[in-house]
Amino acid sequence: MNPRERLEELKKKSLTLNMTRGQPGHNQRHVIPRDFYPAALHELGLKIDGIDITNYPVGSPDLKAIQGLPSLRKILAPMVDLDPDLICVNIHESMKLMADYLYRGFVHGVGKDAPPWERGKTKFIVFVPGYDRHFAMLERFGIEMIPVKLTRQNVSDNSFMDRVEELVAGDPQIVGLLGVFRYSNPTGFTFSDAAIKRMAEMKTACPHFRVIHDDAYCVHAFRGKRAEQLSIVTASKEAGNPERGVVFSSLSKIIAAGGTIAFMGANEEYLEFFRSILKIEQITPDKPKQAEIFYFLNNYPGGLNGLMQAHAEELRPRFDAVERVLQEELGESELVKSGKVSWETPDGGYFVSVDVVPGTSPRVIEICKDAGVAFTAASATYPKGMDTEKRNIRLAPSLPEVEEVELATRVFALAVQVAADESNNS
Ligand SMILES: Cc1ncc(COP(=O)(O)O)c(C=O)c1O
Repeated sequence: MNPRERLEELKKKSLTLNMTRGQPGHNQRHVIPRDFYPAALHELGLKIDGIDITNYPVGSPDLKAIQGLPSLRKILAPMVDLDPDLICVNIHESMKLMADYLYRGFVHGVGKDAPPWERGKTKFIVFVPGYDRHFAMLERFGIEMIPVKLTRQNVSDNSFMDRVEELVAGDPQIVGLLGVFRYSNPTGFTFSDAAIKRMAEMKTACPHFRVIHDDAYCVHAFRGKRAEQLSIVTASKEAGNPERGVVFSSLSKIIAAGGTIAFMGANEEYLEFFRSILKIEQITPDKPKQAEIFYFLNNYPGGLNGLMQAHAEELRPRFDAVERVLQEELGESELVKSGKVSWETPDGGYFVSVDVVPGTSPRVIEICKDAGVAFTAASATYPKGMDTEKRNIRLAPSLPEVEEVELATRVFALAVQVAADESNNS
């Protein structure tokens, strides 16, 4: 037979072989010691959702699989009230995912038709008091921050949104807003659905305005049920601005900080654009890690809810201790009665926000430091540390033992009084 005839013979076999990509072969797995992968993954047969978790995808990447293992997405998506198809599970930290979102904003734009942002001409709205790492990140990107103050009152009647709407309507360089809308860092405030809707619907001078919700504490209630909240992603879709809402979260404060995964949620209109970028940056996400997390959460008694209840049992006594000591030491004081000192009593999140006598926050921190108790630097809760009133201090009681939280809070409460006395006498 000549080559043509031999080829015709082989074609009769209806071959479906694939030699497109440089993938490690299945037999190569035997070279890897069995205990390299945890037993849980062997129990899953090193496969999940029909996907080989130890290899690249076969042929060209399945674009939906690059969003993360479907079984894991099914567990995580309800955390942010979204459909599993609308989340993308990726690396281990939401901060890095958020930073990547910003990088892409400057390189690719934040949507199919959105031109890349220009350095020096990009502003974001942030809420104060707020999260110091958000501020540091935006600052490093050269993004100007426009602070909008949150108070118990203006969050409960949504009037903080008047200011947000006014700002975004008037300045096309304000391209986005970044904040924690549920159990906010550090105040513990949760925005109402009406506020979320206003963010989704508001008229913005920038045609591709983005609202980024860092939902780091989405299931982190420690007193009763978690705060339900309309998703900014869903609200944006309903408002006819489907690419506007983006949400980020992670398992850092659920399973292991630095050792698990994070995810982003957005509407399909943005995800389609996002996948078109991701598929050239990445061939496959960390599937063994994702499968391990799926296995763990799927087998935990009571699932994710059971796990969060167990965390709540650890956290609640610490937050109760802060409240108890602040009440004991300051509750009946003139400082509190006159409104010069106040604090929030959150039901979730990781912080307690305290406003001390105006002008005294650096001194309070200094007095505590002298007594051997460290708190976040005064004014850290403001962009570039610009708390002009020098009032706000963030307490973080999650790590120390309950007795240590009590002691540290007592030192803090006494320092508040000493600093107030000093400022009266100066
Ligand atoms: C509001 C908020 N967002 C994000 C993070 C960081 O989360 P990750 O570990 O997923 O980057 C933290 C950590 O304290 C946080 O408080």
